[in-house]
Amino acid sequence: MGQFEGKKGLILGVANDRSIAWAIAEFIMREGGECGFTHLPDAPEDLKRKNRRRVAQCTEGYERAKFLVPLDVRDDSNIAAVMDQTASVFGKIDFLLHSIAYADREDLKRDTVETSRDGFRLAMEISAYSLIAVTNAAKGIMSERSAIATMTYFGGEKCVPGYNVMGICKAALDAIVRYLAHDLGPRGIRVNALSAGPLKTLAGSAAGVGSMLGLYAHMAPLGRNITHEEVGKAGAFLLSDHSDGITGEILHIDGGYNAMGSPGRLLDVIHAAQS
Ligand SMILES: NC(=O)c1ccc[n+]([C@@H]2O[C@H](COP(=O)([O-])OP(=O)(O)OC[C@H]3O[C@@H](n4cnc5c(N)ncnc54)[C@H](O)[C@@H]3O)[C@@H](O)[C@H]2O)c1
Repeated sequence: MGQFEGKKGLILGVANDRSIAWAIAEFIMREGGECGFTHLPDAPEDLKRKNRRRVAQCTEGYERAKFLVPLDVRDDSNIAAVMDQTASVFGKIDFLLHSIAYADREDLKRDTVETSRDGFRLAMEISAYSLIAVTNAAKGIMSERSAIATMTYFGGEKCVPGYNVMGICKAALDAIVRYLAHDLGPRGIRVNALSAGPLKTLAGSAAGVGSMLGLYAHMAPLGRNITHEEVGKAGAFLLSDHSDGITGEILHIDGGYNAMGSPGRLLDVIHAAQS
């Protein structure tokens, strides 16, 4: 019997088959869980409905993918409609994945000191505040022993040049995880974050992960980058009964990169280049 047999939940943040949310959802569905999905709303003039189509291409063929509805986390009525849909299909849910981030490319490229006011507000609203909005709307339909997980990155703990405004959003998100864990603990709802090393995805590429891949391969204790499959398993762990007793936690899945206090084996490369 799969570890998610009989469990139901909501997956927010699949854009395509490279999305971290898809890696986690695929693992959960393989283990018997049933999932509802959302996609970014399509513009009315986009007759091909590209956003919906990309997510539908992932979910089609999965019997355990139960519905697919639009969601823009900037809109509270849209969030409420998604929760209504979820309740009507599943009743109570056992897990909720929030795997959502956005910042204007211009603001990501700028030095943090030049971040625009509007760009900061937008990035924070979508990438950090939305976890509060979604959790508040979902808490009434979460079962007594349930779990929420979000996706974060090390750039919220330490300065990672190039990650810029998104690093500030992740620092806020990490703090939100701890406060929500406290608020929802009495209801038996756990709230955690998974801090992933760089992976090539739409959001990842916008945040400059391409240049980070080599760094992790040299500096991380494991001497390599992580895979989508590994993130899928770790995310599912945080959403499963196997992590009962864990809440308010930031779990790193980064080959151990965050444990390093020096460039490690990258120094050998630098020394070799100098000699
Ligand atoms: N890729 C990486 O290297 C990496 C590393 C650590 C953390 N993360 C985090 O993982 C999460 C998922 O990113 P990903 O790498 O899978 O990329 P992705 O582009 O596949 O996922 C980002 C998702 O955010 C959604 N989104 C953006 N604005 C939205 C809005 N207004 N309303 C609703 N949804 C919205 C997009 O539709 C998309 O599905 C993000 O929080 C990201 O910061 C990514």
